[in-house]
Amino acid sequence: MREASLQAVVVGAGTMGTILAKLMAVRGVKVTVVDTNPQVLETSRMRVGIGTSICFATEWLGVERPDFVIESVTENVAVKQQVVAQIETYVADTTIIMTNTSGIPIDDIGSAMRLPQRFLGTHFFNPADIVPAVEVVPGSHTEAAVVQKACGWLARLGKRPAVLNTCVPGFVANRVQHAVMRECLSLLEKGVVEAEALDEIVQYSIGVRMALNGPFCQRDLNGLDTHLNIARYLYPDLDARQEPAVLLEEYVAQGRLGAKAGRGFYHWSDESRTQHQVRERESLQRIIEIATQQSNGDEP
Ligand SMILES: NC(=O)c1ccc[n+]([C@@H]2O[C@H](COP(=O)([O-])OP(=O)(O)OC[C@H]3O[C@@H](n4cnc5c(N)ncnc54)[C@H](O)[C@@H]3O)[C@@H](O)[C@H]2O)c1
Repeated sequence: MREASLQAVVVGAGTMGTILAKLMAVRGVKVTVVDTNPQVLETSRMRVGIGTSICFATEWLGVERPDFVIESVTENVAVKQQVVAQIETYVADTTIIMTNTSGIPIDDIGSAMRLPQRFLGTHFFNPADIVPAVEVVPGSHTEAAVVQKACGWLARLGKRPAVLNTCVPGFVANRVQHAVMRECLSLLEKGVVEAEALDEIVQYSIGVRMALNGPFCQRDLNGLDTHLNIARYLYPDLDARQEPAVLLEEYVAQGRLGAKAGRGFYHWSDESRTQHQVRERESLQRIIEIATQQSNGDEP
C-alpha cells in the first residue's frame, strides 16, 4: 500500500534548515521553508538547487496545514521559545512540532507553549542528508504517541532515530563529544601531545573502532573487568574542569574559529577546506554503508 504523502514546514533556512528541507523533499515530503531573513532564504534556495519543489517564504501566509513542523533557527533559547510558541498559532492542535536544537533542554524551549505534549526534540547531525542518527528527545510533557509518530517519519526519511528516556542538557551526543574534547584540550594544554599526534592516535584507534561498534558494544568485546581496572587508576587523573579550556577561550578570542576562519588547530585555505569537505562526504557514505552492513550481519 502506498504511504500518504506528507507535508512539512522547516523554520530557519540556515545550514541545517536547508539540508533538512532538501532531505525531506528528496524523500517526497512537500516542504515549505520559512525564515525571517529574505537573503538567507535566497541562499538556501540556491543551495538546494534545481530538481526539488520546495517553497520558500518569509512568513506563514499561504502555508498549507503541515503534518509536522521542525524548527531549526538560531541556537538561542529565547529565540526558540518565541518561534515554537508562534508556530502553535499557525498549526492545528494535533500537529507535531519538533526542535532541532543541539542540546537545549526541551522543556526550556517549550515553556511558553500552549500544548507542549505535541513537542519534542529531534537532533540531526551535520551533514544531515548523510549521517543516519537522529536523537529523539521527549520533554516531560511529550506524549508517547508523538514520539512514536516522529520516529516513524524519521525512518521514512531514511534516518535511524534513537530515543532518550529523559532529556538532559546536550542530550547524548554532545555530552559524549564534549567529554572527549575536554580531555583532548587538557592534554594539549599540558603539553602532553601535539594536536597532530593526538588526532592521529584518536582517529586511528578509538575513532575507527567506534565507526563499527558503539562504546558499550566495543567495551563488551574488550572485557569489562579490564575497563574497570583502568577506570580505577585513571579517573582521578582525568580533567574534570567545570569551565571551558583556557586554550579554547584564547583561540576563539584570537579569531581562530576553525576551518571557516582559516585557522583553528590547523591552517586552512578555502581550497583545502572545500577539498576536505568533499572527500569527507564521500568517505562518510562509504563508512556508513560498511557500519550498516556490519550491524545487519550481527542481527540474530
Ligand atoms: N550546524 C550544525 O552542525 C548543527 C547540527 C545539529 C543541530 N544544529 C542546530 O540546528 C539549529 C540551526 O543551526 P544552523 O547551524 O542551521 O544555524 P544558522 O545560523 O545557519 O541558521 C539559523 C537560521 O534561523 C533563522 N532565524 C532566526 N530567527 C528566526 C525566526 N524568528 N523565524 C525564522 N527564522 C529565524 C536565521 O535567519 C538563520 O537563517 C540550531 O539549533 C543548531 O544548534 C546545528
